[in-house]
Amino acid sequence: MKYINKKLSIEKVAVENIAKKYKTPTYCYSYRQLKENIRNFKKNFKSFSPLICFSVKSNTNVNLIKEIGKLGLGADVVSMGELMIAIKAGIKPKKIVFSGVGKTSNEIDYAIDKNILLINAESESEIKEIERIAKSKKKKVHVGIRLNPNTDAKTLKQISTGKKENKFGVNEKTFCELVKYCKGSKNIILKCLSVHIGSQILDHRPYEKMLRILDKIINKVNHKFEFIDLGGGMGISYNNNDKKLNYKRYNIAIKKFLKNNKSKIIFEPGRSIIGDTGTLVSKVIYIKKSGRKNFVIINAAMNDFMRPALYGASHKMLPSVKKNTNSKKTYEVVGPICESTDKFTTLKSFQELEENDFIVICDVGAYGMSLSSNYNLRPKPIELLIKGSKIKIIRKRQKHKDLV
Ligand code: LLP
Repeated sequence: MKYINKKLSIEKVAVENIAKKYKTPTYCYSYRQLKENIRNFKKNFKSFSPLICFSVKSNTNVNLIKEIGKLGLGADVVSMGELMIAIKAGIKPKKIVFSGVGKTSNEIDYAIDKNILLINAESESEIKEIERIAKSKKKKVHVGIRLNPNTDAKTLKQISTGKKENKFGVNEKTFCELVKYCKGSKNIILKCLSVHIGSQILDHRPYEKMLRILDKIINKVNHKFEFIDLGGGMGISYNNNDKKLNYKRYNIAIKKFLKNNKSKIIFEPGRSIIGDTGTLVSKVIYIKKSGRKNFVIINAAMNDFMRPALYGASHKMLPSVKKNTNSKKTYEVVGPICESTDKFTTLKSFQELEENDFIVICDVGAYGMSLSSNYNLRPKPIELLIKGSKIKIIRKRQKHKDLV
């Protein structure tokens, strides 16, 4: 995104024109940014060519997943719905991994029928359930076991998953027992060790620690894992002062790990692939002065974009047009929903806003639309894919009649 003649543009399209034509709130994605992110991700780890499975939970738009598939990625899914959408988007089942702590019998049954690459189990009961269903189908099913490495990812506590108090994976002792159990099973083939310690990780050291733990445990269980699934979690810079994840150091640590362990690496990135491709365009409905505060009430709300309300996340906001004015103000940007957490950010020293101006929320491609809801019975936004000067509707705006 950049300003061309003072107009904020996504690739070659001015945000203002999008807002006028398609109304607001509107999610827009840049194809060029998506392609660039995938190219960079591959480049960072090219020496061991990992299987990169896009984490569908971060964005479930079937047309985006289609594009991601065409750019060579597989999929990481966590429910039957996500598995169905990945297959619908044309992702080959042999490039799909299925994670999640609570897969139901129905979901396991469906995944087995689809012959996906791996079901990554997260408990003893789940392993036994997979075995039971596989046996009833007279099949041998490829599984992974998710280890909880008890590693602090040094990220927000709400999106940290690799510590012993988190519900994810199994501890070292159970892991070792399950490896033994799988070796004795006729219907389960243990192919993978999986981990995922959290999301929005900007420090490479937790990853290094995680790899040291994996190395130790693999040595101990003495099992040849065809795959090591390292999960996702690579963070992005939401604000100019956020630090950047050091991919070089992560890559070095993996290469060192691979010297002792000849396995194929799988990654499950979501945010690092799609996060900065997305923008939410909205309109200022009212400006309300209340005491010393200037509230800017926009027509996007926490139901359209949950991250600020849910995690206190802060996202950059930009005006659609740079005005010829020196007048700057401080604004509290809020949505119309009846909750005090329906607040996006405080804009300090921002160009003066007026009612009906358009304003965008940046970096909403991951966990934006996928976390949206119909709270307050608000229809979900339209989604557009921008390629150069072309605009494609990739999901229609919901209508009130769909809801009422
Ligand atoms: N693999 C597993 C098993 C996961 O649980 C997740 C994310 C990923 C991969 C992808 O992680 P990523 O590369 O996107 O960080 N809604 C929160 C993030 C929740 C992440 C859940 N799991 C947010 O908006 O920050």
